[in-house]
Amino acid sequence: MTSPRVLVFDSGIGGLSIAGCIHRALPSVRLVYLADSAGFPYGGQSEAVVVDRSRTLIRQALEDFPCDVVVVACNTASTVVLPALRSMTNIPVIGVVPAIKPAAGVSLNRRIGILATPATVARPYLAGLIDDFASDCLVERIGLPDLVCWIEGQVCGETLPSEALSEGLQPFRDTGVDTVVLGCTHYPLVAPLLKELLPEVKFWVDSGDAIARRVIWLLEQGGYEPDDQAAPERQMPFEQVLFTGRLPAGLEKYLEELGLPAGQLLGNWPAEGRIRSAGSA
Ligand code: DGL
Repeated sequence: MTSPRVLVFDSGIGGLSIAGCIHRALPSVRLVYLADSAGFPYGGQSEAVVVDRSRTLIRQALEDFPCDVVVVACNTASTVVLPALRSMTNIPVIGVVPAIKPAAGVSLNRRIGILATPATVARPYLAGLIDDFASDCLVERIGLPDLVCWIEGQVCGETLPSEALSEGLQPFRDTGVDTVVLGCTHYPLVAPLLKELLPEVKFWVDSGDAIARRVIWLLEQGGYEPDDQAAPERQMPFEQVLFTGRLPAGLEKYLEELGLPAGQLLGNWPAEGRIRSAGSA
C-alpha cells in the first residue's frame, strides 16, 4: 500500500512545527508543505482575504498532489476558514486552534497566558474557546504583531530581537500566569527562547502532538496501518515544499536543522496564471 499523503498549510514556516510532530508520529507518511508566503502574514489580512487565499491554494494543491488529509497548520486561518474548506472537499480537514482546553486542564493557579497573532487574539472563535473551557481562569492575551516576522527572518539568518520580545511578554509576568498557550504555529519554533524569557511559567501548551494524533486517527479510519518499522532517518519527510512567494534564502538548511529535509522545494507556486478562484467550477 502506498503511504498516505498529508497536506500541511500555513502562511509561512510556522506549520513546520506541526509537520515535525506529524513526521515524528508517522515517519512513513508523505508530507506536502504549502506556505502562502506571498500572502504572509495572515494576521495582517482581512478575514475575507485569508478565506479566499486558503481555499484557492489548498484546492489547487490538492489537484496537483492528491492528499488523504489536509492540516491547516495556522491558527489565524483555522479560526475563520474551516467551514469553507470542509464544504469544498470530502478530504478530512484538520484545523489548529489555540489549545485552551489542555491549558485549563494543567494550570494550577488558574492564570493562563495566550500568545497569538493580533488577529487570533481578537477573533470571536478564541473568546468562544475561553468561555467554553477556561471560564474559571484569568486569561491574559498577548497579540504580538512582529513575532511571526522575526521568526521568518531567522530562516535567512536574521537575529531575533529578544529584548523587544521580552518587553512584549511583560503582561504575562504582571499577571503571574503559570501556563502559556502558544496560539500560533510559528511560536514552537522559538520555544527555547520563550522559556528562557519566562522561566517562571510552569506549563507550555501547543497543539502539535494533538494534531498528529488526529492525523493518525483519520488515516486509520481510512484503513491505513502505520509502519512502525519505518525509521525517521530513512524517510524524506517532505515530498514537496511549496512557497507562493520566493523561496527564502536559507530554507533548505533550516529544514535540515529541523530534521525535515525536502525532496523538492518550489518557489512562486503555483506558476503565475494558474491560480483559479476556489469558487469557480
Ligand atoms: N502560523 C500562523 C498562525 O498559526 C501565523 C499567522 C500569520 O501569518 O500571521 O497563526
